[in-house]
Amino acid sequence: MTNISYINGEYCYYENAKTHINDRGYHFGDAVYEVIVFNEKSYFDYDEHINRLFRSLQSIDITLLYSSKSLKIIIKNLIKINKAKSGSIYLQVSRGVANRNHSYNNLNLKPVLVIIVSEKKNNLVDNINGVKTITCQDNRWSRPDIKTTQLLPNILAKTKADKNGAYEAIFIDNKDFVTEGSSSNIWIINKDNEIITRDLDGKILSGITRKTISIFAKNNNINVIERKFSKTELMQAKEVFLTSASSFVTPIIEIDGHVINDGLVGNISNQLRHLYLNNIGNFNHKYA
Ligand code: PDD
Repeated sequence: MTNISYINGEYCYYENAKTHINDRGYHFGDAVYEVIVFNEKSYFDYDEHINRLFRSLQSIDITLLYSSKSLKIIIKNLIKINKAKSGSIYLQVSRGVANRNHSYNNLNLKPVLVIIVSEKKNNLVDNINGVKTITCQDNRWSRPDIKTTQLLPNILAKTKADKNGAYEAIFIDNKDFVTEGSSSNIWIINKDNEIITRDLDGKILSGITRKTISIFAKNNNINVIERKFSKTELMQAKEVFLTSASSFVTPIIEIDGHVINDGLVGNISNQLRHLYLNNIGNFNHKYA
């Protein structure tokens, strides 16, 4: 049972874990976040996630008064006192507390750090069924590369997917190119067996799972091409899959009712999921 979180310098039971009504994260979504999966005494891609948190903070001008070393101690303590065996860690840093005013110039605020541990059994099964998806217009702001808590377009898209019995919504930009999922990166394998995922052109989040899989693929002589691809290419793909910290590699077998690969999980998607789950151990960060 995970019911202790960390907020404003204290370990608190959920019912006491409160932030101020003038927290700018609450008013403006003036905050960034990370999600890190942990399993059996180790984290998945820990350093990469913490580094991205610091990059996100820097890009919106927030100076966190915690080092990565102290974050590590707090996270380890939280997992321990919650007796959590596997699940995810949610870290959120907002700019701080101030009377509502859009500008933060000269405010000199103390950022609010929140860390929540959620216990969940991770689905580490090698062969999984594919999922259904829908497409949606990408109507987000022009900086989706920053992992901000301002996620209204993402939650609307995901809810639409959910209402349609789909696992994920795939964003399509105004030139008909695929950007990414509402909470994942999207990959295709085309008829020439090319593995393609959008390049980091600032229009997608630089996914940590995406990066790790690219490294594992390269180490196994599997070529990954980073370029934009169109909705037509997506629909005509031989295989499609998504990646994220909590979904690892998840094959996609249906998009807007159009069936991919006769509804079967493709070999390359399977191979990459297998590669990720079997090699992530070398990237894991032991905490006990
Ligand atoms: N989502 N793109 C978006 C928009 C995301 O929100 C995420 C992650 C990803 C994949 O990134 P990573 O591999 O680093 O998890 C891509 C997390 C899991 C979330 O919001 O819960």
